[in-house]
Amino acid sequence: MTIDNKKAKIILEDGCEFDADIIHDNMGSKSIDISGLRKETGYITYDPGFMNTGSCMSSICYIDGEKGILRYRGYDLEDLVSKCDFIEVAYLMVKGTLPNLEERNKYMQLLNKHSLLHVNMKQFLRNYPSDAHPMSILTAMIASLSAFYPELEERDPEENIDLTVTRLLSKMRTIAAYTYRQMNGLEFIDPKYEYSYCENFLNMMFHTSVNGYTPNPVHVNALNKLLILHADHEQNCSTTAVRLVGSSEANLYAAVAAGCCALWGPRHGGANMEVMNMLSKIQNDKMSIDEAIRKAKDKNDPFRLSGFGHRVYKTFDPRAKIAKRICLEVMETTHTNDPLLDIAMELEEKATHDDYFVSRHLYPNVDFYTGITFRMLGIPANLYTVMFAMGRLPGWIAHYLEWRHDEYMKIGRPRQVYTGSPLREVKPINER
Ligand code: CMC
Repeated sequence: MTIDNKKAKIILEDGCEFDADIIHDNMGSKSIDISGLRKETGYITYDPGFMNTGSCMSSICYIDGEKGILRYRGYDLEDLVSKCDFIEVAYLMVKGTLPNLEERNKYMQLLNKHSLLHVNMKQFLRNYPSDAHPMSILTAMIASLSAFYPELEERDPEENIDLTVTRLLSKMRTIAAYTYRQMNGLEFIDPKYEYSYCENFLNMMFHTSVNGYTPNPVHVNALNKLLILHADHEQNCSTTAVRLVGSSEANLYAAVAAGCCALWGPRHGGANMEVMNMLSKIQNDKMSIDEAIRKAKDKNDPFRLSGFGHRVYKTFDPRAKIAKRICLEVMETTHTNDPLLDIAMELEEKATHDDYFVSRHLYPNVDFYTGITFRMLGIPANLYTVMFAMGRLPGWIAHYLEWRHDEYMKIGRPRQVYTGSPLREVKPINER
């Protein structure tokens, strides 16, 4: 990052002038530093939805939305997906470098070591209704980790945070699997020390004393890749929530629980579940693809094409391309077939040639094909957003840690344009 010798001059209608620094990032994008604008001129900027606001400096994730590029710490997503497993990418996000073989294996063992849940937490989870939304359970359980595993006063703050990161990465997988078992009235089973991260997750989900389940390597491989696709996406809604909550110096568990809440919505991580609902609806209602597209374009119809569109990508989301490939690979290798995939591919084909979608740069996003693969792995639709959260966790942690070392380090606190009433007097109750 460099600061230009030239300034951006902002001239305001009352003659006020403000010379703003021009910041060049490492990839050639420019931004204007308006942080001193209000102090010097009395003006604030108005940018609803933060469409045009850079809220921090970050070295974790790079996106070029026009070219469809996504990189984690400088590594291209495609490169990471083809050469790494999820633990290597989680390590990269959290620690900043890719691990060597020994470091990866040690980290995997460390995560397994911390993967058990406090017996009272299991009891707590047991008391949720079996039809509770898995995201409500996940959010509450993540926040509750701080009650069961508090920071220890006598320990150094950096050691405390290291331990919290390890516990969180490890226990979120256990919580996610137990949520599935709770939904299905199954006993919780312990993680196995010898299994990898994804093997352990699938085993904790699907093993019973009578089914002799062992994780299918094709499923393990697909799950690793799907989690990598979700590992980070710079300042999206949930990551911004994590940073904002973290900026009040709340603990990591609290910040990540806030991220889970933000992810839950159908415009964000909840979209993967919505995609499956949409594809099933098209199938069950025997709706033609043309009819689905017509409904999605009709502003008076609440029907939207879930899994389409993105705030940042104005071309194909690179994650969607890889997700589609993973989906087809699993289907071919396991000789399975899913009619919802045919519907999805026809929708993609027609929508990407329809003027409404083309002119608005609406293409499939990450959520469009991931659900169908999760379904082939045996994961039910209402757990898809939990899977997204498991994948996104290393990114959330990386942003929380980055904020802790940010020299600016101020609490996040936007301004507003007030549209309410001027001062009014409260009338006594019998005169209102
Ligand atoms: N179906 C139909 N029309 C759409 C869609 C869609 N999926 N997405 C955007 N549009 C239209 C929208 O109506 C608007 O049209 P107009 O200009 O005529 O008013 C235009 O495209 C711009 O959309 P926007 O809502 O202003 O764009 P945004 O950047 O605020 O929202 C989005 C981005 C992802 C929330 C939105 O595209 C959407 O709701 N998509 C469906 C939900 C979804 O798939 N979300 C997952 C996003 S990727 C994973 C993640 O980050 O969680």
